[in-house]
Amino acid sequence: MTMSTSHFKPLFFVMLFLLPLTSHCADSDPLQDFCVADYSAKTSGDGFACKPASEVKADDFFFSGLRYEGNTTNKFGTLTTHGDVLSFPALNTLGLSMNRVDFAPGGLNPPHIHPRSSEIVFVVEGTLLAGFLTSKHVLFSKVVNAGDMFVIPRSLVHFQLNIGKTKARTITSFNSQFPGDPIMSTNLFGSTPTIPNEVLTKTFQVDDNIVNLIKSKFSP
Ligand SMILES: *[C@@H]1O[C@H](CO)[C@@H](O)[C@H](O)[C@H]1NC(C)=O
Repeated sequence: MTMSTSHFKPLFFVMLFLLPLTSHCADSDPLQDFCVADYSAKTSGDGFACKPASEVKADDFFFSGLRYEGNTTNKFGTLTTHGDVLSFPALNTLGLSMNRVDFAPGGLNPPHIHPRSSEIVFVVEGTLLAGFLTSKHVLFSKVVNAGDMFVIPRSLVHFQLNIGKTKARTITSFNSQFPGDPIMSTNLFGSTPTIPNEVLTKTFQVDDNIVNLIKSKFSP
């Protein structure tokens, strides 16, 4: 005896609506096997133009940029090495990328967002406090150790702080070829042109001196 198909219809329609949603959560799908970025092309769509297929070599699909430890001698004590489409042209149209982040002891990957991507943080070395904020101002944070992963939903403000005594290192992966990573402090206080003080004094409920002081630390 067969079951009534009426039970399955709602599920079928739910799936029908979910399918296009899942395929539009990140970068658009590729239209060809590959489209190695041609940075010098004068025109492109949303991304880079393709290098002629006849000129594509195995080396185009290889990138060793994440081998090297980043120099963490800077004000945050961290350095992000990008393995995105700007450094690894074969990622063009593939909808993924990876970065390496090195942390000095006490180093902070300061609050920032990835406007086009969710992120998985894989801890290779060290101990970090990783957290993100929801759009309702709730903080979700965890202490993560070597071998652990932490996931950050797309576009939410997040940070990682090295709370261990040694240096730390993460490999982060993204469902975008070019996630973008504006740091909130630089975005607001180090923009070009600069945001008028009136906006910032009101936003942060402080006076001009404080805004000028913070601006001086993030001037472009
Ligand atoms: C790291 O960066 C600092 C500050 O820019 C610089 O003084 C230092 O020489 C760099 N270290 C290496 C190993 O490149």
